[in-house]
Amino acid sequence: MKVTMWTPVFCLFVWFWLPLLGKAAPKPEWIELSYQFNNGTIYWPTSLAFKHIRLSENFTGAGFYYSAYDISAAEHGGTHIDSPRHFAANKWTTDQIPLDRLIGPAIKIDMSSKAAQNRDYQVLPSDLEAWEEKNGKIPDDIILLLFFDWGKRWPDKLTYLGTDTNDTSLLHFPGIHPNASRWLVKNRKIKLIGVDTASIDYGQSTLYESHQILYERNIPGLENVAHMDKLPIKGFTLYAAPMFITGGSGGPCRIFARLDKEDCTVNAAIRLRSVNIFLVTTVFMFLIFL
Ligand SMILES: *[C@@H]1O[C@H](CO)[C@@H](O)[C@H](O)[C@H]1NC(C)=O
Ligand SMILES: *[C@@H]1O[C@H](CO)[C@@H](O)[C@H](O)[C@H]1NC(C)=O
Ligand SMILES: *[C@@H]1O[C@H](CO)[C@@H](O)[C@H](O)[C@H]1NC(C)=O
Ligand SMILES: *[C@@H]1O[C@H](CO)[C@@H](O)[C@H](O)[C@H]1NC(C)=O
Ligand SMILES: [Zn+2]
Repeated sequence: MKVTMWTPVFCLFVWFWLPLLGKAAPKPEWIELSYQFNNGTIYWPTSLAFKHIRLSENFTGAGFYYSAYDISAAEHGGTHIDSPRHFAANKWTTDQIPLDRLIGPAIKIDMSSKAAQNRDYQVLPSDLEAWEEKNGKIPDDIILLLFFDWGKRWPDKLTYLGTDTNDTSLLHFPGIHPNASRWLVKNRKIKLIGVDTASIDYGQSTLYESHQILYERNIPGLENVAHMDKLPIKGFTLYAAPMFITGGSGGPCRIFARLDKEDCTVNAAIRLRSVNIFLVTTVFMFLIFL
């Protein structure tokens, strides 16, 4: 290869872009969507709350450290899944829900302003249609989250549930109107639904119709989903990992999400890298054949 006037230009070019060529794509961003289980975890007022009973938490006589606890709780409390069987006699129990129903692309419908005005608000078909007008049709096989911005009240029972007593007639929190559940099962094909309140039906419900309508179609529900405020409207994958209870009507569930790597900084880096490889190769070829 001859040394030409282009050589310094080429060296400068390589020096300038080299760091970018080796730059790895940014790590995916994970978002925790579960509450921890402890004394403060909110359960349905009539349910058995979480108990974590210490058996050992100290150094033993033999010199090693040993800690162990017993746990007990109702299936339906804290961040948990409702299996379809919860309200539908022959539908899936917790162990029967296929894994591909628990993992996948998800969307969030923001109902926070309506819930802020009325804590007994129920999501209507018109709310779902309004979301679609802005964001496109709710895709098939999607996981649908309804965001009431209720998590900011957790773990205060009085503001989260509407009562800190055992009287369920005092429950006041937003939910999904039966009309919206009917609209969803008739017109769309969602595979899992989630709310950031204690129940998919609103607190004042006595027939739990959304439970009945959705679970009859084997669509499980996630309740007390945490930190939904950190999620975008779309562009994320949700993972729900319920405790594997044989014959269960639900169970404690770890839920988390990963943001899709569609953000512009990542795209820009990838684009720059391809452009660089092209340019470096071109200049290199040019110099060789000079
Ligand atoms: C839970 O409550 C029990 C009994 O009141 C108490 O001994 C324990 O320290 C509490 N645990 C936590 C994690 O707060
Ligand atoms: C742990 O063990 C030490 C020494 O064996 C003892 O003094 C202490 O009280 C123990 N702590 C608890 C919480 O049992
Ligand atoms: C709720 O009921 C349980 C038992 O049914 C009782 O132990 C508890 O004290 C009650 N709590 C309130 C706040 O009424
Ligand atoms: C629910 O749907 C029924 C039947 O279409 C309708 O009569 C009723 O007004 C709807 N309720 C609400 C709150 O929109
Ligand atoms: Zn439940």
